[in-house]
Amino acid sequence: MKVSVIGTGYVGLVSGVCLAERGHQVTCVDVDRQKINQINQAISPIYEQGLEELLKKNIHVNLQATTDLHRSVLATDLSLIAVGTPFNGLEIDLRYIEEVSYQIGKALKEKPTYHLVVVKSTVVPGTTDEVVLPILEDVSGKKAGVDFGVGMNPEFLREGEAVQDFMYPDRIVLGGMDEKSTSLLEQLYSVFEDVEQLKTNNKTAEMIKYTANALLATMISFSNEIANLCAAIGGIDVVEGMKGVHLDKRLSPILPNRQRITPALTTYLQAGCGFGGSCFPKDVKALKAHGVKAGSPMRILEAVIAVNTEQPNQVLLRLKKHFPQLEGVRIAVLGLAFKPGTDDMRESPAISVIKELKIQGAEIRAYDPIATHEAQKIFGNYGLIFCHNLAQAIYDVQAILILTCWEEFKQVPELLKYLDSQPLVIDGRRMLDKHSVAKYEGIGL
Ligand SMILES: NC(=O)c1ccc[n+]([C@@H]2O[C@H](COP(=O)([O-])OP(=O)(O)OC[C@H]3O[C@@H](n4cnc5c(N)ncnc54)[C@H](O)[C@@H]3O)[C@@H](O)[C@H]2O)c1
Repeated sequence: MKVSVIGTGYVGLVSGVCLAERGHQVTCVDVDRQKINQINQAISPIYEQGLEELLKKNIHVNLQATTDLHRSVLATDLSLIAVGTPFNGLEIDLRYIEEVSYQIGKALKEKPTYHLVVVKSTVVPGTTDEVVLPILEDVSGKKAGVDFGVGMNPEFLREGEAVQDFMYPDRIVLGGMDEKSTSLLEQLYSVFEDVEQLKTNNKTAEMIKYTANALLATMISFSNEIANLCAAIGGIDVVEGMKGVHLDKRLSPILPNRQRITPALTTYLQAGCGFGGSCFPKDVKALKAHGVKAGSPMRILEAVIAVNTEQPNQVLLRLKKHFPQLEGVRIAVLGLAFKPGTDDMRESPAISVIKELKIQGAEIRAYDPIATHEAQKIFGNYGLIFCHNLAQAIYDVQAILILTCWEEFKQVPELLKYLDSQPLVIDGRRMLDKHSVAKYEGIGL
């Protein structure tokens, strides 16, 4: 099929490249000319494992990139909208969705053949039918269900594993305003075999995405609240406590041969310094706001947000226990991205921790295996020392804060053995053995 993907961020670019790899003719569209130039030069503007290889393989073969949305819509059968949907402090901000809908509507006005417009961005229930569809009809002067169709296809990829998740999805949700829209969307995904597809209406498709994210965020905040209680009571290590919970056979099923399956879901039931990223924080807030609007307030989600906002502070509390005055204290911050495997720093707990350390006058050495260039955009003039490797970051510091669960940080205990004085290690992700370093503090301990 001929497909245009509007917005070439994490979702749009990965979707475009992977759909091209699966044999579709894809045109990626963005307003950011620099991104488009990079894509056309086979350089990925974002880091995702395996993405650049697939981009190199497909660009100028099955894949092209342009800033010309109008021509792209005219030249394709189906458009996927994958622009950002931030939270504006009060509710979901649909300005990019509205702008793209308007632009697509203008192109549809000139298009003699049927076109399917599919929202892939995460949008609150009702957006596709009640915002996108009317804009398309108004601007194009055409009729939805006759001249064009409208669908909703939420994306479940995880940053850090985005290519793998897209190429081998666990589910495909196909929302559509009518049978024609859904079956065209089904055709797009027919190149993905052995995957369960769920056909539904647009509103349900929108709700599925929010419910999935809200559930995972709730599990994280629940675990963090339990961790904080364990620490407050004393004599309980939340890691052991949670291990006991994970052993419930409904969470970690036992096979007939007595072996355990450890589902990835249990990683959301672990203590840490809070969730971040471009999705969970904004999506939970948007759903909560939408609940109020719909007359059904989401009390659990209010608590999920409150716990998460406070959680990075748990790292600082432990630091202050040992260093009541942070002025001039040399601190290594390990991990800047919101999670391992990505360079995405959006809403990363590292941001609030670093800001607070800076306010209190600490000397910060920051290290992340791949997110340094993103961090420099945020902390460019903050006077942070960005280190090139782990050893450099932890050399001659008084405290080490682990904020992202990068595999590489498991080397910290070994590297510390070569140093004369031993810094305090605050494990914000509970990834180290608590006995492996001289001075250890961890969330939920
Ligand atoms: N990042 C994730 O892991 C993830 C996962 C699932 C769903 N989502 C959802 O997917 C959507 C996109 O997220 P993202 O992380 O890819 O966003 P992003 O910010 O990385 O990318 C959005 C892109 O859209 C472009 N854009 C904005 N206005 C445009 C316009 N008028 N025309 C063309 N391009 C335009 C921007 O320049 C940018 O490149 C969001 O709704 C998000 O919630 C994200």
